[in-house]
Amino acid sequence: MAGAFPDAAAAQLLPDRVLVNASGRAGTDLSGPWNWSVDPYRDGVAGFHGEAPGRTHQRYADVDVDAETRKDPYALWELDMRRAPVTSLPSSWITHDATMRYYDGLVWYQRRFEAAPRPGERQFLHFGAVDYRASIYVNGALVGTHEGGFTPFALEVTGKLRAGENQITIGVDSERSNDTVPPTVTDWETYGGVIRPVRLVTTPATYVDDAWIRLTGAGRIRASMTLDGPSAAGRPVRVRIPALGLTLSGTADSQGRWTGEAAAPRALKRWSPESPTLYDVRFESGEDVLSDRIGFRTLEVRGTRILLNGKPIFLRGISLHEEELGKEPTRAITPAAARALLSEIKDGLHGNFVRLAHYPHSEVMTRMADELGLIVWSEVPVYWRVAFARPETLAVARRMLAENILRDRNRASIALWSVANETPVSEPRNAFLTTLVRDVRALDDSRLVTAALLTRRDEKNGRIEMVIDDPLVAQLDVMAINTYNGWYSGDRLEALPAIGWRSGATKPLILSEFGADAKAGFLDAGLRRKFSEEFQAEYYRQTLAMADSIPFLAGMSPWILKDFRSPRRQHPVYQQGWNRKGLISETGERKQAFGVLADYYSKRTPDSR
Ligand code: GCU
Repeated sequence: MAGAFPDAAAAQLLPDRVLVNASGRAGTDLSGPWNWSVDPYRDGVAGFHGEAPGRTHQRYADVDVDAETRKDPYALWELDMRRAPVTSLPSSWITHDATMRYYDGLVWYQRRFEAAPRPGERQFLHFGAVDYRASIYVNGALVGTHEGGFTPFALEVTGKLRAGENQITIGVDSERSNDTVPPTVTDWETYGGVIRPVRLVTTPATYVDDAWIRLTGAGRIRASMTLDGPSAAGRPVRVRIPALGLTLSGTADSQGRWTGEAAAPRALKRWSPESPTLYDVRFESGEDVLSDRIGFRTLEVRGTRILLNGKPIFLRGISLHEEELGKEPTRAITPAAARALLSEIKDGLHGNFVRLAHYPHSEVMTRMADELGLIVWSEVPVYWRVAFARPETLAVARRMLAENILRDRNRASIALWSVANETPVSEPRNAFLTTLVRDVRALDDSRLVTAALLTRRDEKNGRIEMVIDDPLVAQLDVMAINTYNGWYSGDRLEALPAIGWRSGATKPLILSEFGADAKAGFLDAGLRRKFSEEFQAEYYRQTLAMADSIPFLAGMSPWILKDFRSPRRQHPVYQQGWNRKGLISETGERKQAFGVLADYYSKRTPDSR
């Protein structure tokens, strides 16, 4: 595994395979029609006394039930996956039909597919994401499980496939608890199900499992590869960037690992939002060639500034949940869906930055950010009240963080790895997050570490001061604060610009959240009540005026581009199950505040105050 963890025990937390850039490999996309069947009392997992389910209760049984009952009319099967309803994956189940809107539990999916396994090749099933727990069966046999709703995993099925027709069954359980990551209570909808593509991937016996290339602060191109297979040790490897005439080559060590570097060619055009240059890169080992499109840039912090390619940058951003535009989002993010959302940021808001909240988004989204030129904040869902004192929960968070970083380390757009959002300060929480920060630095020394924190509010002699004194700040490269003065507080909007900000640390600050709800079309020019477009627009004007007075501010990602589903938001007139802090409605209708932020960003430079 690439990226040796600080301690051997931690290395157990790394996924046992990465299959980096799986979508770039030969294989079969298993998107499309799948049978599905709900199982709210988990009958397919345990019998009514808790014992293992009998064969006629196993949704994953490798059987044609109809044929069985024709052979034996007395056979009793209370299931038949082959004749169960059909849906199209990837998609959350909440859009399969109206009864599934608030279903939270176990659903089984099954389909058949053709395979032609050849000697000397290996086959893997790669899952983009399954929310929240997945159990995978091939031809009736369990091949693996996974916990975590937003990161990829791959299971080897070499030797387990038949030539011809095979059957795959996925058991997806969306139920979370106080022990999961995230815990049960979040301010977003649970989109249970197979939300990203499933692919059958074929590789040579020895293949490139992990590959990472980046531009170092010293202006050198550094590449590392990890091979997996019987002839990994001592195998020649090569990395080529044909457009630059650059080749790095070497030999894998006894663990199948290699790292090499060379001075960056003078012709290298660095990636930036203004010029998102991507190069074809080929990672080669024997007959295995893994191609990818990768950008090269440098990131650093200097005092209270963030520097991209050595120049100070102000991050003109917005936050985003993973929901496509439309009344019935289902988390099926296609390139067109990603482009539609990110273009609103890049072209509509004149932005250069997006906070992909609160969990790893689809690889389609991060690749689109690479292509369009948006800097990305990537985050794991260590959100609110996580079981910080529970070692098993920490292990889940660490693996999730590793799966996210190992998937996306080649994405130039990603600048920041965030380890948490609004977690209450405590000793167990500090220890938990300290471990995650350390893991980030062990896996990726080329990016910045941050976390969305809360501040303390001081009121002295009628003056309000937001004080940043979270103990975690000392370990971060960039501080980030969520603040809602004027929305969740009684502050009058005209009082916001006078609010002061103080930090004990000399580090860049990102206002990672601020926002106000508005129902698109609710105009209230007279009273300007909360939930009106006028209130939201004025909230932005006054909050931006406050932001201008913060000398160590290096960026912002207001909450949020688009209204998003949240079961916590049930005002019958203004919300109806949607959090309405979007600058656009769920169908893309721009609210007045959209223009306020777009105008502000069109004038904002690193030095403008
Ligand atoms: C919090 C939280 C978000 C939430 C937002 C809100 O800061 O991070 O997930 O949606 O505030 O209250 O709208």
